[in-house]
Amino acid sequence: MNRSEKICRWKQEKDVVLLAHYYVDKAVQEVADFVGDSYALAKTAVSVSQKNILFAGVSFMGESAKLLNPDKHVYMVDGTAGCPMADMVDAEQVRRMREKYPQAAVVCYVNSSAKVKAESDVCVTSSNAVRVVGKLHQKQIYFIPDSHLGHFVAKELPDKEFLFHDGYCPTHQSIDRTSLLRAKEEHPDALTLAHPECSKEILELSDFVGSTADIIRFAGEKGIGEYIIATETGVFHPLQKENPDSRFYPVIHCQVCPDMQKSTLEKIEHMLKDLEKQPELLLDGSIMERARLPLEQMLLLAQ
Ligand code: 13P
Ligand code: SF4
Repeated sequence: MNRSEKICRWKQEKDVVLLAHYYVDKAVQEVADFVGDSYALAKTAVSVSQKNILFAGVSFMGESAKLLNPDKHVYMVDGTAGCPMADMVDAEQVRRMREKYPQAAVVCYVNSSAKVKAESDVCVTSSNAVRVVGKLHQKQIYFIPDSHLGHFVAKELPDKEFLFHDGYCPTHQSIDRTSLLRAKEEHPDALTLAHPECSKEILELSDFVGSTADIIRFAGEKGIGEYIIATETGVFHPLQKENPDSRFYPVIHCQVCPDMQKSTLEKIEHMLKDLEKQPELLLDGSIMERARLPLEQMLLLAQ
């Protein structure tokens, strides 16, 4: 039996569902039971029947799965895989802003810790942020932690008044204007599809802005063509698989999230072999109760 076969067998025998984000290695995407963007993964986590969830992604994704399923056992393929953007805001900063702006709704990008979610009114992902914020009754919005996504949402909702945090994703921030202009020159017929975590100057030069799932959907609906992709290169696997006759180009060569690359087949095999002995993702009980509410609010408003 090869490694992938062993993984598939153990998943069944041990009642495990393997969830993976589009940014993880293609070999990991291939053995996963479900691959998606952050929103789809959160929704899937609440509907799975297995009692164990193994997550190939970063910590905030596993935490969201645990918050929405407190009775399930959640394991990370690599427990050290975090999100540097999520670490750019802490609970104390949010409490201080609440005191200063008591009428503002605290809107928290799902790329955040459970402690920060516990201080927030509602969560959003890149695929539902405009819809969710648009439904809030508050006029003033404190958007944390991603400044680029915050500005993107603000542009779509001019009637709201935004306060921004200064967080950013190092991977998307490194996609620069000069390189995009060069890529456009090299591929003059290509459409540019960007994730809203990219800077304003990249979004302004793009033909489409959306979450990873939105980008994959857009390329599929548009049909055969050439596309410059401004997000982590893990999405090239589903893009190329679903659109074998299209061409996809990165803007720069290092559009890579180091934490997402920590999930490997070897680690999945190791985790599944002795699942009972592996450390579970556990969260403080009082934090869990409060942090679940903004996630549930998001699932409600995003419908
Ligand atoms: P998506 O919500 O588009 O999957 O993005 C998650 C993420 O971490 C982007 O950097
Ligand atoms: Fe965080 Fe950026 Fe990695 Fe997404 S790509 S998990 S935002 S560091």
